[in-house]
Amino acid sequence: MTETKLELPGLVSTAVQQMATVVEHEAMARNTWRMRLHCPAIARQILPGQFFMIRSPDRTDPLLGRPFALYDIYTDELGQPAGIEFGYVVVGKMTGLLESLKTGDQVEVWGPLGNGFPSPPSGHLVIAAGGIGQTPFLAVVREALGRRVYGNPARIPTQKPSRITLCYGVRNIEFLAAVETFRAEGIDVRISTDDGSAGHHGYVTDLVKTVLAAGDTPVSLYCCGPEPMMRAVSKLVLAANIPSWLSLETPMACGFGACFSCVTRIRQDDGTWDYRRVCVEGPVFPADKIVFDA
Ligand SMILES: Cc1cc2nc3c(=O)[nH]c(=O)nc-3n(C[C@H](O)[C@H](O)[C@H](O)COP(=O)(O)OP(=O)(O)OC[C@H]3O[C@@H](n4cnc5c(N)ncnc54)[C@H](O)[C@@H]3O)c2cc1C
Ligand code: FES
Repeated sequence: MTETKLELPGLVSTAVQQMATVVEHEAMARNTWRMRLHCPAIARQILPGQFFMIRSPDRTDPLLGRPFALYDIYTDELGQPAGIEFGYVVVGKMTGLLESLKTGDQVEVWGPLGNGFPSPPSGHLVIAAGGIGQTPFLAVVREALGRRVYGNPARIPTQKPSRITLCYGVRNIEFLAAVETFRAEGIDVRISTDDGSAGHHGYVTDLVKTVLAAGDTPVSLYCCGPEPMMRAVSKLVLAANIPSWLSLETPMACGFGACFSCVTRIRQDDGTWDYRRVCVEGPVFPADKIVFDA
């Protein structure tokens, strides 16, 4: 397998670009799939919350790669990282193309990219996930519970959350993905649906409010989902002064800092804001740094 080391300013220094073979591809929910790619070089390096870009090697439409977050790595029979998994929902050209791929097909992939979530916090970790925004959190949970180690050199957490609560909201029951996989990790999983077809009838922010109101241990919060949902969660955690990190899903063209298509407004130490590239400085930012409303 040919791996090209990517050497670009600001890029994760271990990033590689390579062809990767699809080794598993199965439905997770309505229009939602999990794909497993054989690519040990990325699997050995990647941290929870980091992402990679994928493009089709033999097509010019779509021309550009698309970003996808790590769902988890998988290991070979010797326990060594063998590849990466991601979950995706079909929304357009690239995800429509991915849906048609079968085991044995190949994609071009480059990564790991971005910063990822911080090493696990202590106390009660609350995770707020909207739609396909839940996929970065399986690796977060497994690392936090000491069930899997990521990165090279391995990132060994120095502390462990006393509790993990996943608040997971989707449009309706048909879009619920991997709920049992998260429950199998032994964490508290709370569900909301916009139409009330499963769990709480309402938004995921209602679940977050309930968990924060219980307030039994020090809380930190990780969040990923559509921008309106993250904006709402951000308001809640800033009002409650809870240390929080949000993973932005800003559209990207290159993924490695060269095109500036992914910039977002980030608050500076002097109170003003400036643009930062989500693919390099993010996608994970402290909630109090993100300027949703200028
Ligand atoms: C760091 C990062 C990690 C991501 N991880 C995942 C993941 O794990 N799984 C997953 O399913 N998706 C993920 N996304 C979003 C994913 O990259 C987009 O859904 C994908 O680019 C859509 O490509 P497409 O060619 O299928 O759609 P396109 O044909 O490019 O677009 C289809 C429609 O979706 C809209 N759109 C495209 N991208 C976005 C976006 N990021 N936000 C809002 N609207 C958008 C377009 O405006 C258009 O209306 C992630 C995004 C980022 C930045
Ligand atoms: S996607 Fe090109 S700079 Fe971020």
